[in-house]
Amino acid sequence: MALVTGATGFVGSHLVRRLVREGWAVHILSRAGSRLPEAAEFAQVTQHLHDGSTAGMVACVAAARPDLVFHLASLFLAQHETKDVEGLIQSNVLLGSQLLEAMQVNRIPYFIDTGTAWQHYHGADYNPVCLYAATKQAFDAILEYYVQAGGMRAITLKLSDTYGPHDPRPKLLKLLDRVAETQEPLAMSPGEQLIDLVHIDDVVEAYLLAAQRLFDGAVVGHERYGVSSGKPVALKQLVALYEQAAGVSLPIHWGERAYRKREVMTPWIGERLPGWHPQVDFSASIAGRKR
Ligand SMILES: NC(=O)c1ccc[n+]([C@@H]2O[C@H](COP(=O)([O-])OP(=O)(O)OC[C@H]3O[C@@H](n4cnc5c(N)ncnc54)[C@H](OP(=O)(O)O)[C@@H]3O)[C@@H](O)[C@H]2O)c1
Repeated sequence: MALVTGATGFVGSHLVRRLVREGWAVHILSRAGSRLPEAAEFAQVTQHLHDGSTAGMVACVAAARPDLVFHLASLFLAQHETKDVEGLIQSNVLLGSQLLEAMQVNRIPYFIDTGTAWQHYHGADYNPVCLYAATKQAFDAILEYYVQAGGMRAITLKLSDTYGPHDPRPKLLKLLDRVAETQEPLAMSPGEQLIDLVHIDDVVEAYLLAAQRLFDGAVVGHERYGVSSGKPVALKQLVALYEQAAGVSLPIHWGERAYRKREVMTPWIGERLPGWHPQVDFSASIAGRKR
């Protein structure tokens, strides 16, 4: 039985659907205002509403009593403003710390955390691309306490960019879909930055394998893996693949926009989770999908 946080998000909702289809009993942790996806699988999950307090979290975890927790809840901001600091700490550090404390109190041994390749700007052991990535690292350090002092077993999956159906986020593919449809010119950077896209089905597979690895007793302490395609392609090339697969031409004006501050030109790839290999080919996936 699993408890999933971030179940209403892009990755979490796919994970929940897959877990339910595979016969797991799934509990999810949500907050006031969370809107559950309409997918049929969500009718089978048990929802626990977190009131924001640590005591409330202890009660949620006690009620769920999971064998394992998949922690995906997070606030993602590529760049922050001063007003965003509390929100980032609340969602990316405090919430997870409350969860770990609740797991320790309830003696729940297995934890899967979600980090980001952006903790590794320029391929460094630690160099955060942005404050969001720094909060992921801060939480990793807190998790280390519960592993070292509390005996928890943990795997952190550090995700690269993801794509796939039911993606509510205003990401690259959505932008390309819109340009394909409207044929309105789009100003972009010079497009030399490498993009590392992993299909959501492959991402979900990594979570399931990580869970199996914990249940098999293969993890002592805390392991960290990159969830990367291993084959990043330049943005320009990616757009060309999109054009080819979708049979369209896009009016993109390359170089009319500057690169973002601390743009990731070469993504960090990281060590791969044993047994995990991405299966979905980007071009085939784009060719087969509805816009
Ligand atoms: N998708 C990617 O390409 C990518 C890349 C690198 C890392 N990641 C990491 O992967 C994980 C999943 O990403 P995603 O793209 O699926 O995220 P997402 O679509 O933005 O969803 C975020 C989820 O976190 C929940 N959440 C945020 N703050 C919360 C809080 N304070 N209390 C309770 N729930 C809270 C949201 O719940 P509500 O419905 O209540 O808002 C939502 O379910 C995240 O940890 C993210 O940092 C993702």
